[in-house]
Amino acid sequence: MRLIVAAVILTLASLSAGQQEDPEARLLISKNVLNNFLVEGKDLTVEYKIFNVGGGPALDVHLKDSSFPAADFDVVRGNLDVTWERIGPGANVTHAVILQPTKYGYFNFTSAEVSYHSKEDKKEQRFGYTSAPGEGGIVNRKEFDRRFSPHVLDWLVFAVMTLPSLGIPCLLWYSSSRRFAVPPKKHN
Ligand SMILES: *[C@@H]1O[C@H](CO)[C@@H](O)[C@H](O)[C@H]1NC(C)=O
Ligand SMILES: *[C@@H]1O[C@H](CO)[C@@H](O)[C@H](O)[C@H]1NC(C)=O
Repeated sequence: MRLIVAAVILTLASLSAGQQEDPEARLLISKNVLNNFLVEGKDLTVEYKIFNVGGGPALDVHLKDSSFPAADFDVVRGNLDVTWERIGPGANVTHAVILQPTKYGYFNFTSAEVSYHSKEDKKEQRFGYTSAPGEGGIVNRKEFDRRFSPHVLDWLVFAVMTLPSLGIPCLLWYSSSRRFAVPPKKHN
């Protein structure tokens, strides 16, 4: 019985010794939508950041984002399927993709998948997910153009120019109505 316990301890010791010789990579991956406004038919930037917080290099790091259906998004620039041969311990990489939503409405931005070898021998493959940006509203293009088009600027200039002529009668009316206003009497 004692022999078995000793053997188990020995194997554990050799396992941890092995880990020290061959340190493992550990990746943390974030996914973020950088735009403040999401508009149908306009560029939307998605940024992925990979941090290797482990003690060893991550090899054949494969990032694949299948969360953007082709029916809902056009890829303008970048790739939703990328591989890095090696990300060293303590290193980080940033990847960005530019997309255009083809529809408006709510969209749930979910996580991308990641796989990598955490050790130099490439025996084990690790799988993980990025963070998920969450739900976002994509604004109707027509609505957006109506509100933020250059015409809005024209209207603003027009409004500023007509303000004095509209404003002065308004002020006069305000001060005269104040002058003749009778405070309500209290009946006790
Ligand atoms: C990412 O790596 C660069 C060097 O490649 C370094 O300057 C930067 O500080 C790192 N960023 C973080 C958040 O660790
Ligand atoms: C978005 O998707 C994630 C993962 O599929 C899910 O857990 C979450 O509940 C969804 N959020 C909404 C608001 O539907």
